[in-house]
Amino acid sequence: MTRVLSVTSEIFPLVKTGGLADVTGALPAALAPLDVDTVTLIPGYPEVLQALDRGEILQHFDDLFGGPATVVAGSAAGLELLVLDAPHLYNRDGSPYFGPDGRLWPDNDLRFAALGAAAAALAVGLGFDVVHAHDWQAALAVVYLHVHAGRRPGTVLTIHNLAFQGHFPGSLFPRLGLPPGLFSRDGLEYWGDVSYLKGGLLFADRLTTVSPTYAREITHQDAGAGLDGVLRWRSGVLSGILNGIDDTVWNPSEDPHIASPFSAQRLMRRIANKVALKEQLGLAPDPTALLIGIISRMTEQKGLDLLLAQIGARAVGGMQFAILGSGEPWMQEGFLAAVRQHPGRVACVLGYNEPLAHLIQAGSDAILMPSRFEPCGLTQLCALRYGAIPIVGRVGGLADTVVDANEAALSAGVATGIQFAPVTDGALTEALNRAAALWQDKATWTRMQRNALKQDVSWRRSAQKYAELYRALEAERA
Ligand code: ADP
Ligand code: GLC
Repeated sequence: MTRVLSVTSEIFPLVKTGGLADVTGALPAALAPLDVDTVTLIPGYPEVLQALDRGEILQHFDDLFGGPATVVAGSAAGLELLVLDAPHLYNRDGSPYFGPDGRLWPDNDLRFAALGAAAAALAVGLGFDVVHAHDWQAALAVVYLHVHAGRRPGTVLTIHNLAFQGHFPGSLFPRLGLPPGLFSRDGLEYWGDVSYLKGGLLFADRLTTVSPTYAREITHQDAGAGLDGVLRWRSGVLSGILNGIDDTVWNPSEDPHIASPFSAQRLMRRIANKVALKEQLGLAPDPTALLIGIISRMTEQKGLDLLLAQIGARAVGGMQFAILGSGEPWMQEGFLAAVRQHPGRVACVLGYNEPLAHLIQAGSDAILMPSRFEPCGLTQLCALRYGAIPIVGRVGGLADTVVDANEAALSAGVATGIQFAPVTDGALTEALNRAAALWQDKATWTRMQRNALKQDVSWRRSAQKYAELYRALEAERA
């Protein structure tokens, strides 16, 4: 039995801002049959403490970055948790990163230093075999373990998104309680700032990211977000392990959020979901129109500005769009304006809405993700599972999970979607033209849907890879 302490700032279904939560929420159950026992350390946000079925108090800190804190063991939503209850840091309404006014919490430096410090103390104290830290928010766990004098667990740091690095003014460094020598170019210093992610990247025993293509991309300057040098240096321990999705949460034959359950054998039943989706969103019933769904954070990463530039022309040309998401105010406003200009053809719901995300997957003909970069992406995996044809930029995990409908793939009968590159206006136009042409060829479209539905997008294979990685680390440190 390998005992793993997973360290994260989000976990589904308790607290989620993106795919990170889906991954940390699903991986423990996928690892359990492989003899890996995962316990997750998570900050004690109000929603976590409320859901917690409390067990023992395992640790007490008199002063953890400005106040007392305890670590409570317990469970919630089927997850085995260690909750860092530090009211001075986490007892507030808002997201894990932002206050209700939309501004970053001014003490995020201390909030996530505390998470890392507590993780290291627990990992050593409770004798875990491996610490698996997720993203910059947990990266200091690796650094504190690196400087720990005695025996320590092996460490894995997973990069879910290199765009977020946890940079803070250099004046913070003395408060972290790390050796002064670590504030250097060979340590956490990054152009005068402290970089939590850089620290984790330098000192973790193994680095992973969430797709093989992204693992390669980030060692190059154009996708390295300023850390490609460090990543090249550590490329010997860096690998890509694809994300999966929880195929019980995302199961079209037993999904309580959709109007009509369906499967590859009962594909016709899918149509009732399209009808229900259009009705719910006020889209015209036009059965011949290609309905494109979007479920996304509205940010530069996701490339939705490219869609905004042509959504009007596409709506006039006959396509329909069901959009769900939130993010940059100017993008939100852009989509709302498109709804006003093209009622019945463009619908947009702002905000986070889990049931509607399921219905869009079940009812749309295609799901569009024009991402400029995408470490893995989960939305296209859900799309494959629901027979919605993914139309995606050929980057990161999108390149690894969608088989483009080129001539070779079509004649071999293995296509599952449409890829385009580079991610530009022109290439998106072409991709949407290809989608429209394929949509006219019903036999091919249905074949692609069946191929999509056949893909294994579960955690099975990747959980095996994480288990192997943990075991290799354990063996090395034995
Ligand atoms: P990222 O983590 O970069 O946002 P992913 O594709 O990895 O992208 O994961 C996004 C996850 O969040 C998916 O499970 C997707 O269904 C979900 N999601 C994104 N936006 C919304 C929304 N507005 N409402 C409901 N679910 C959403
Ligand atoms: C990040 C990435 C996304 C990935 C998710 C989970 O949010 O943007 O591509 O799927 O993390 O790993």
